[in-house]
Order: sequence, then structure tokens, then C-alpha cells
Amino acid sequence: MNNELGRRHWLKQTVMAAAGLGLSTQIFGRHSGCAEDELPFNNSTNSPIRIGSNENPYGPSALAKAAMMQAVAKSNRYPWETTTLLRKKLGEAYGLSAEHVLMGAGSSELLGVISAFAGRQNGNAIAAYPTFKLWFTAAEHFGLTVKTVPLTTTKVHDLPAMLSAMDGKTRMVYVVNPHNPTGTVVAKAALESFVQEASKTAVVLLDEAYTEYSDEPSLAYLVANNKNVIVAKTFSKIHAMAGARIGYALAHPDTITQLADWQPWSNAGAGAVALAGAMASMDDVDFQRSCRQKNDAVKTFVTEALTQLGMQVIPSHTSFLYYNTGTYSADVAAITSAAGIVGVRTYEKDTPWRRTSIGTMDEMKTFIDVLKRGV
Ligand SMILES: Cc1ncc(COP(=O)(O)O)c(C=O)c1O
Repeated sequence: MNNELGRRHWLKQTVMAAAGLGLSTQIFGRHSGCAEDELPFNNSTNSPIRIGSNENPYGPSALAKAAMMQAVAKSNRYPWETTTLLRKKLGEAYGLSAEHVLMGAGSSELLGVISAFAGRQNGNAIAAYPTFKLWFTAAEHFGLTVKTVPLTTTKVHDLPAMLSAMDGKTRMVYVVNPHNPTGTVVAKAALESFVQEASKTAVVLLDEAYTEYSDEPSLAYLVANNKNVIVAKTFSKIHAMAGARIGYALAHPDTITQLADWQPWSNAGAGAVALAGAMASMDDVDFQRSCRQKNDAVKTFVTEALTQLGMQVIPSHTSFLYYNTGTYSADVAAITSAAGIVGVRTYEKDTPWRRTSIGTMDEMKTFIDVLKRGV
């Protein structure tokens, strides 16, 4: 399809998608995937290039796909055995056990469950600004007032300021590491001492959705001896299974038992097909390695290209980039979206900072070509 045809096809699909929006809102609820940023975002699945939700463009892995196809045939049965096997496999992968693992329909379900658990006595939750805030509204309904603490000028979590913001009513502290939307990372030693301190009086929720894209290790080992630490992980990113909806929380067994009570049916959010795919994907280490390598190569290309265009790009430890469009002559979101590229998102209102996921090399070459052409 040439560019003009591709664009017309995309516009037609977008109109059709808009007509169906009432239905998709009914299915997915008010957020429909958009609640994490400050400005409305068109997350149409019909765009030729879709770089707004940090989806992994390379998967799922061949092993995961084969396992999921097989699982489809057995989907008339509840998948108890696979749930138990996967919890065991995940626990062991972190030097823990099945009892340290709670499954969910993506880690976002678990961020909600953990907020409900932490909010049971009312109080506040501390999080950065900006951060991944998909769970904020649910948390507020569950009794937590969310207090945000600005990132540092280099867009890193300001851990001392977060500690200072805690008070006698703080029930939960949320840290995403590496951070979404800025891609920055807090080194292990600093984060570990922050966790030790903050967890004395509150639940510390570490969101490790992107750890596999960085060189910093998971801090999941902390849950073995600390009942106030919970780590949220997902199969949506390095495992490329965002649509399968499967994630998990790691915590001390006593904490997992309590958290499980906040799920109407504990561990049942991840279905048979997702569970089978996740089991197989964990074994496909080559696939994960290749996703990371490709992501790193494209990230270097886009970082250099945006820098050449005069933009400040925050060094990223993730599968997306955060950059300052202030010196650029046009509205980056408008010109890319007119070219059928969905994914330039805003997390700090009234600022020129934007986030864009790292797609394939071809997708990102098109993205950069559009920016080079300008208006
Ligand atoms: C930091 C962070 N946490 C959690 C999630 C939720 O992932 P999922 O619900 O697909 O597992 C995302 C998704 O983009 C994310 O960026």
C-alpha cells in the first residue's frame, strides 16, 4: 500500500472505529486505556503506526503463540492446574515460591487490588508527578487520596521528597522503576534504602513493568522478609502479551493471602490462553533477549534523530522515550497523527514534554521522517 492509500485506509478505519466508540466504551469502561495521561489520546487500534501504549511490537514469541493456540481448545475448563504451575514457576524465577505470587488480568488489575487493600483504613497514597496514574481514580474510590510529588529536574523519582511527603495517614507509596513516562531509573542501593524506610509505616508498591529493559535488577527479593513490600510485574511488555491480559504481584505469603481476599475470585483473572502463553514465553529467553536488543538499537536511532532535531531526550531505560519538543517548529502530536501515527502523548500538562513508545525500526524511521519534513 502506498503512503496515500495507507493514509486513506487509516482515515476510513478511524471513522468506522469512532462510530463504534459507544460500544467499546461500554466494553472497556470509562478509561478505555487513556486514563494515564493528561490530555485525550486517540488509542485507535486501526492506525498504521501505533506507538502510544508501550506495546512490544515483536511478539508474542513463537513458543507463546503455539502454546496459546493449543490452550484455546481446552478453554471450556477452568485452568486451575496451569495457574498453580505458573505461580510456582514465577515464584521460583525470583527465588520465592508459589505462595509469594498473585495472578491478575494484567498488572493494572493488581494495582487496583493493592490500592483497595491499602485503602481499607482510608488515608493517602504517595506517587510521583508525572507517573503511571491509571489506578489513581480507583484508588480514590477505595479511600486513598493520592498525593503527588514532582520528579527531580532530570525526571527521576525524588525519593527524599517522597519520604518527606509521607505522614501518619500514608497507607501506600508507589514507585515505578524504571519510570513511566520518563524512562529514568533509580539505582538499586538508593531504592532499597528508600523501601526499607517507607515500608516501616506504609505499603510500598514497586511497579516493575519495564525492569527487563534496564540493567537495574528487580527488587522482588525484598518481599521475602518484608510484608509491606509488593512488586507488580506484567507479561505486557518484554513478553509482548499486552492483549492477553496477564500480570502478577509478588509479596510475602501473608500479604498475598490478604491481597487475594480483595479479588472476587483470587488468581482467576488470567485465563487459560494467557496462562499457557505466559508459561511458554518465560522459557523463550532468546525471544526476550532479541526484543531487548532490537528495542535498544531503535532507541539509539530515535534518541540521536530527536537530538539532531534539537530536542532534549531523557536517556531511557525502557521501551519508550520522553523528550522536550519546545524548540521544535510544529506540534509533534498533530503532524504525526495527521500522518497516521498514533502515540505522541502528554503527561505534564502545558509543557512541551512528550512520550512516545519505541516501535520497530521501520515505524520509527517513518516517525522521524515525518518530523524531519515538519508541517
Ligand atoms: C508502569 C506500568 N505499570 C503497569 C502497566 C499495566 O500493564 P498491564 O495491565 O498491561 O499488565 C503499564 C502499562 O503500560 C505500565 O506502564
